[in-house]
Amino acid sequence: MKRPFAELWGTGSYTPKRVMTNDEFSTILDTSDQWIRERTGIRERRVAGPDESNACMAKAAAEQVLKDTGLTPLDLDALIVATCSPDRLLPSQACDLQALLGAKRAAAFDVQAACTGFLYALSVAEGMVAADQAQHVLVVATEKLTTIMDWSDRTTAVLFGDGAGATIVRRSPSDRGILSRYLKSDGTLAELLYRPGGGAAHPPDERLLKDHSYFIKMAGREVFKAAVLSMADACDQALQQAGLTGADIDLLIPHQANIRIIEATAKHAGLPMDKVYVNVDRFGNTSAASVAIALDEAVRCGRLQPGMKVMFCAFGAGFTWASMVVQW
Ligand code: UT7
Repeated sequence: MKRPFAELWGTGSYTPKRVMTNDEFSTILDTSDQWIRERTGIRERRVAGPDESNACMAKAAAEQVLKDTGLTPLDLDALIVATCSPDRLLPSQACDLQALLGAKRAAAFDVQAACTGFLYALSVAEGMVAADQAQHVLVVATEKLTTIMDWSDRTTAVLFGDGAGATIVRRSPSDRGILSRYLKSDGTLAELLYRPGGGAAHPPDERLLKDHSYFIKMAGREVFKAAVLSMADACDQALQQAGLTGADIDLLIPHQANIRIIEATAKHAGLPMDKVYVNVDRFGNTSAASVAIALDEAVRCGRLQPGMKVMFCAFGAGFTWASMVVQW
């Protein structure tokens, strides 16, 4: 096995204070706790308030990483934010975070790969470290999806939640680090999961507000099928590249969209569910932030221990899918 070039160093996360249960949704939509739990595994999600912007959530997650690692904002050479629900469309979310942190020496930019964004951003960060472009790259994934979902659409509204997670990528001084990574997309399937309006093709106007085209639209059943296939492909590719099999993996941290997709992915990779980190029940689908929040939780509760091999995999709009095996 090749020695890893870059490692993930320190973790952090922030989830909003407000917890919204399935029962609360059943008071505003034609849905039920039973339907949501049985079809998705979600029991509750976090909803960010007006004072919990992406910038604030990302800053809170980043500050935990800085505390973990002993770095200061001035030690950061680059700052990458993965998000599909930025506070504003210009400038990047990363530049707003840079200003809040006072990371004056860093280059800052966003990566938009929807739910796969954190893994794409980690891979870009690894490349920057490998090219000697940066020593310390802060990677933050943050989402405020509850502001871009249609609260009147039961087929999407019950699925999403808000939050942020973070880590630093640096050159590995040991055997710890990224053993393999895999990124893939299929842009021909974009319209199965997208926001039709609000961009340059359909700029904001009165029609946009009335037809709800500003919000996330999803063909759930089709996306589900593609997600199961793509997550399986992602696991296969990352394992193959690392020269490993599912039996070598100590913990799988998959994108948390639906417990049934997670179970199918674990089964495909040959992993029992006790080797899979699940928090979709408490946070719902937080898109790019999903794997990042789960990673921080897994570290903080002791599920992910030094010496373990962890595999990440994710799937999202685009379609995009990705995976990574990391020696922790
Ligand atoms: O983050 C990455 C991208 N996203 C995903 O990976 C999500 C992928 N998709 C899914 O997780 C699932 O497809 C959903 C959870 C979105 C839907 O579950 P499903 O088992 O595929 O249900 P369905 O869309 O086939 O709908 C079954 C029924 C429909 O009623 P009819 O036509 O059978 O009468 C829906 O109208 O369930 C109905 N339904 C609901 N009922 C109660 C849809 N949403 C709800 C709801 N409450 N919230």
